[in-house]
Amino acid sequence: MPFSSLNTDESSIQIGTRTIPSRYFLAPLAGYTHLAFRRVIRELGGLGLATTDLVLASQLVAGSQKSRQLVVTTPDDDPLSVQIFSGIQRELISAAKWLEDHGYQGIDINMGCPMAKVNSSGGGARLMCDTDGACATVAGVIEAVDVPVTVKMRLGWDRDNLTAPALSREFEKLGVAAITIHGRTRQQGFQGEVNHDGIKAVVDAVESIPIVGNGDVRTPEDAQRMRKLTGCHAVAIGRGAMLDPWIFSKIQRLEQGVEPTEPRPAEQVQFLRRHFHYMVEQYQDYSCLLFRKFAGWYGQKLGIPDDLEDRLRRFESIEEFDEIANEIHARHGERIATLPTALINVPNGPVERW
Ligand SMILES: Cc1cc2nc3c(=O)[nH]c(=O)nc-3n(C[C@H](O)[C@H](O)[C@H](O)COP(=O)(O)O)c2cc1C
Repeated sequence: MPFSSLNTDESSIQIGTRTIPSRYFLAPLAGYTHLAFRRVIRELGGLGLATTDLVLASQLVAGSQKSRQLVVTTPDDDPLSVQIFSGIQRELISAAKWLEDHGYQGIDINMGCPMAKVNSSGGGARLMCDTDGACATVAGVIEAVDVPVTVKMRLGWDRDNLTAPALSREFEKLGVAAITIHGRTRQQGFQGEVNHDGIKAVVDAVESIPIVGNGDVRTPEDAQRMRKLTGCHAVAIGRGAMLDPWIFSKIQRLEQGVEPTEPRPAEQVQFLRRHFHYMVEQYQDYSCLLFRKFAGWYGQKLGIPDDLEDRLRRFESIEEFDEIANEIHARHGERIATLPTALINVPNGPVERW
């Protein structure tokens, strides 16, 4: 199936009552896929649904400032789902109701997070180990709200417990609107290659709801391969969007039969500026501190000279950022940009100790 054979009718997808304009979604990457990043990547075109970082249900309802910041959105940050997690059904229900009352259009339940602090409370991937409990939890949330409820999960806890197909079938009967599958088990963490057959087993297990394939998509061709090998209806891209924020616009162009081009230096520097300025809209001067985390990423991505990357790590005011960005523009290309393979850290060591 060459990209160019995908016609425009095929480019949108229905998730419950929502029509999502593109089948290529942004997978949540806690700490990276915040509002400013979502807005700047949406401007490039081709992105369908984005999802917030996972938000602890109880803290959202209790009004914790950090959780409330995670769900801040703007009219251009659309379509958006908010991802919630908890091992306690009542907390998920309260959070879902709160979100619906505050105008959010989609709720995603996290059943894939492998981190101990999430699993020990019965949330994240741990929910996949208890079919009855997971079904009761999901049913409760669906009953409580009218907006579409989706689930994101892994293939199962470990290779002896590949519960995703059976759970997906049950979730569909309960009224879940779509399911995202990261094609690894919790035991695997981020090791090994994504298991396309495992995702296909989930696609085959459900009747008609969309399955969103996820894992290791780094290029438009990988996205195409994910759809071809698994039959999934949409693709969620996480780390690949950090490696190349233009991946969604490139896919869109390919689907329209137009050869994608690499962004020009001026466009890349503009991306950096807009990312920072959207962050300033949300966090004002505090952005100077928050943005430092991205210095290394932009350093590699844009081939920023070492001294400027260093300044990007230490700048203290919005004016200073603008000066640095001007200089980056003027000296673009001084350092040869290498294509980094692992810009986003994943937890490492034995998964039991995460
Ligand atoms: C740093 C980091 C943070 C993540 N945060 C979340 C999260 O908040 N919620 C979630 O469902 N998955 C989270 N994930 C998993 C990703 O959404 C995705 O399933 C996984 O990275 C595989 O897809 P990819 O290869 O396209 O990145 C995170 C992954 C990473 C590396």
